[in-house]
Amino acid sequence: MPEASMATPSPAAASPILELRDLTKHFRARRAGKTYTITAVNHISLDLVEGEVLGIVGESGCGKTTVGRMIIGLEQADEGEIRFGGSDILERRGAALKAARLKLRMVFQDPYASLNPRRSVEDSVAETGDIHGIFENAKHRREMVGEALTQVGLNPSFASRYPHELSGGQRQRVGIARAILPTPDVIIADEPVSALDVSIQAQVLNLLADLKARLGLTMMFISHDLGVVAKISDRVAVLYMGNVVEIGDGPALFADPQHPYTQMLIASVPRIDPASRVTGTVERGEPPSRFRAIEGCPFQDRCPKRTDICRTMPELLPTTPGRRVACHHVDAVVAAD
Ligand SMILES: Nc1ncnc2c1ncn2[C@@H]1O[C@H](COP(=O)(O)OP(=O)(O)O)[C@@H](O)[C@H]1O
Ligand SMILES: [Mg+2]
Repeated sequence: MPEASMATPSPAAASPILELRDLTKHFRARRAGKTYTITAVNHISLDLVEGEVLGIVGESGCGKTTVGRMIIGLEQADEGEIRFGGSDILERRGAALKAARLKLRMVFQDPYASLNPRRSVEDSVAETGDIHGIFENAKHRREMVGEALTQVGLNPSFASRYPHELSGGQRQRVGIARAILPTPDVIIADEPVSALDVSIQAQVLNLLADLKARLGLTMMFISHDLGVVAKISDRVAVLYMGNVVEIGDGPALFADPQHPYTQMLIASVPRIDPASRVTGTVERGEPPSRFRAIEGCPFQDRCPKRTDICRTMPELLPTTPGRRVACHHVDAVVAAD
């Protein structure tokens, strides 16, 4: 089980702005008349270093969205801590919790579903500000919304429009404008370009990278698409069935994936880096059913390196500089810290 010290160490000068400690979430689900417990997120520990983009990647159902929703309070964590600004936000109530909610914001996957069709762009973008009473009057509200729209590359006149009058790319820009009014510290972007045409994806990715630099944001960038994650992320965490199986600096991780699952993911996207040292063949196939409890390594059923030891859970341990891998068959080094 990963302990607090198991999280990837931050670069010496940079301090973590957000720290997830042993975060865990179970869901109950019924199937064929039986009730099952699904561990959507299993004791995840991650740091977000101020100013970085941390990519979270993994196949559908691995728990990415649930991690994001727990951070912004849309889902209640069953176990663990979310440390932000010096304390665990899961323990906060009242004004201290409200302050965290203003500073931790989410951009959602589907700009069609996340915007209320009956609300104008102005009302949608102003929503968080309205809840927190930050606007002095209607004029101030209009100005702030106009500024947020300008920041995302939309003319302030878009304020009076409705979602059905917008293209997919424009809707997602509105979704981003909502998340930056008022300016947060951290943005959780959950598959922010997955619902967009490929031709629009690069524009929205560029906008996010640009806003990050301009507003001094820190970002958790969630996607099932390795190519998209590779483009924008400084560091990358690979999730498999609710577990972090590998984490490290983006370019190094894509050039030298160490966990058999990361190797499989990267081998399936050859355009990322044709020179990457991916060795051995990995059995493809689907992730095992979430309805069945697995003893030990969650990847064992699909892994070409599987041996008896894989029936015990591997720890996320340091391997090469900046890298941690949870695999019995990858050599760990003794941590320097
Ligand atoms: N509200 C919910 N009720 C029951 N199961 C859920 C709920 N939300 C997510 N899950 C399950 O938790 C697992 C992780 O889901 P999710 O976080 O959405 O994964 P991802 O975003 O990586 O696709 C999946 O097995 C999913 O079916
Ligand atoms: Mg998701």
